[in-house]
Amino acid sequence: MDQMTDPRVAALHAKQARAQEGGGAERIAGQHAKGKQTARERIEMLLDPGTFQELQAFMISPTDGENAIAGDGVVTGYGEVDGRTVYVYAQDFTVYGGSVSLTHARKIVRVQEMAMNSGCPIIGLLDSGGARIQEGVSSLQGYGEIFRRNALASGVTPQISVMLGPCAGGASYSPALTDFIIMTDKTSVMFITGPDVVKSVTGEVIDQQSLGGAMAHFTKSGVASFVAENEEASLALVRRLLSYLPANNVEDAPYFPPSDHPDRIDLRLNTLVPEDPNTPYDMRVAIEGVFDLGSFLEVQAGWAQNAVVGFARLDGQPVGVVAQQPMYMAGVIDIDASDKICRFVSFCDAFNLPVITFVDSPGFLPGTHQEHGGIIRHGAKIIYAYVEATVPKISVVTRKAYGGAYVVMSSKGIGADLHFAWPSAEIAVMGAEGAVNILNRREISQAENPEAARAALITEYREKFANPYRAADEGIVDAVIEPAQTRAVLVAALRALREPARQMPSKKHGVMPM
Ligand code: HXC
Repeated sequence: MDQMTDPRVAALHAKQARAQEGGGAERIAGQHAKGKQTARERIEMLLDPGTFQELQAFMISPTDGENAIAGDGVVTGYGEVDGRTVYVYAQDFTVYGGSVSLTHARKIVRVQEMAMNSGCPIIGLLDSGGARIQEGVSSLQGYGEIFRRNALASGVTPQISVMLGPCAGGASYSPALTDFIIMTDKTSVMFITGPDVVKSVTGEVIDQQSLGGAMAHFTKSGVASFVAENEEASLALVRRLLSYLPANNVEDAPYFPPSDHPDRIDLRLNTLVPEDPNTPYDMRVAIEGVFDLGSFLEVQAGWAQNAVVGFARLDGQPVGVVAQQPMYMAGVIDIDASDKICRFVSFCDAFNLPVITFVDSPGFLPGTHQEHGGIIRHGAKIIYAYVEATVPKISVVTRKAYGGAYVVMSSKGIGADLHFAWPSAEIAVMGAEGAVNILNRREISQAENPEAARAALITEYREKFANPYRAADEGIVDAVIEPAQTRAVLVAALRALREPARQMPSKKHGVMPM
């Protein structure tokens, strides 16, 4: 009798096969008919072939009695992505709509804890109707246990959530506590209260996708870090995202040999900034010109587009990139841009990624909507996040850096390690028009030709202040650099700053303004 025909092994195989059926062939067909894959098919797509090791596949919910289904609606375990271990859980919509019982929750908690203890990323593949209604409070207890591990793991190992179906109620809060949310277009939705509740409370009639679909969260709420066109693309994006990240907060991010030379010159950058200070240009051109070719992965690209954040590599080393986008609202800083920048800088700091900042902002967005919405506390978060970051911080002023926008965007004053400027930089307390109106009001009103006097004073102010040389004279700017040479300058800067010995004052934790 060989091993395969041993009745005990055969019984194990039969039990495994039953567990793999989840909610059964009919429900699996239903899942496929909706253009969705099963939990196991998704795990196969995510991980390196043949690396998945399942855990607790036979666990059942004690409240289900005879109807208990092995695995209880979630497949958990570990495997590899590009040869690096990750922990994973995938909810199985064919079992009670992927809803979360206490057993289901504890399977997730098990891999959350293993990921944290072994210093590996955790990936959640979500497709769930939320708390399992027939279980009552114990399913809520389960959610609480998951949320607790999400919060504890924050800053210890990267946490990524992939939304692959309806994710109602509690199914939205766990992802909200993780570092990145990838939503699959057209098939995923996230909401705290669904369309029926919205209608009964507010009278508004709205469909699921408009309320909480991928595009709603990618462009309006900022909840989705990424949107991908289908499940395959969502899971491929997880693999790409992981390539920029260390496995945990004490490791360095993986090095990838660049295809381009560290001294690559990009002559386009010398003329990228238009002569006219009010003409926009695309900051992404600067980013492409500086970082390793094809390495930029933008995060939250559809929301608060006046700010640009994302990962890139500089001579093979992953870094975080923060920038303004002059093409969108002139790169002004508003509430959403503040949230976007603050969170990204904080993530980079937690996972040892140097932060490189490109500055071109006329200032903070004025108006009652912004003031009453709390731009003061939101803008303050940017300062807080940069100051708290102990990773290397390098900034490059490409054009406007006026007043508060100058200070908050990784200025020397708040702790940039190296601070560069292009010759087109304008570093001053405020723009020429505003400054002249305040400083020269009397002179202008008394002039024979007030408009001509104003124009002359504006020109004079621009010549005097709207350049990087006053900041360079005072040593605040470390070097005014030729734009085409920016890559070589930043590569050298990063090498010089590899190990910053920076200590924060001893404290339990600070209190970030929110
Ligand atoms: C138990 C559930 C379930 C749930 C779905 N099912 N959600 N079972 N508990 N929460 C079951 C259905 O009964 C059905 O079983 C099967 O899963 C598939 O569901 P369908 O409704 O047929 O699928 P679909 O039309 O695709 O709609 C999916 C859905 C919808 C949008 C998720 O099922 C739905 O609205 N579910 C309830 C969502 C919800 O309100 N959850 C509670 C949130 S409160 P059969 O046997 O018929 O196939 C919460 C509290 C935590 O989560 C808060 C923490 C902060």
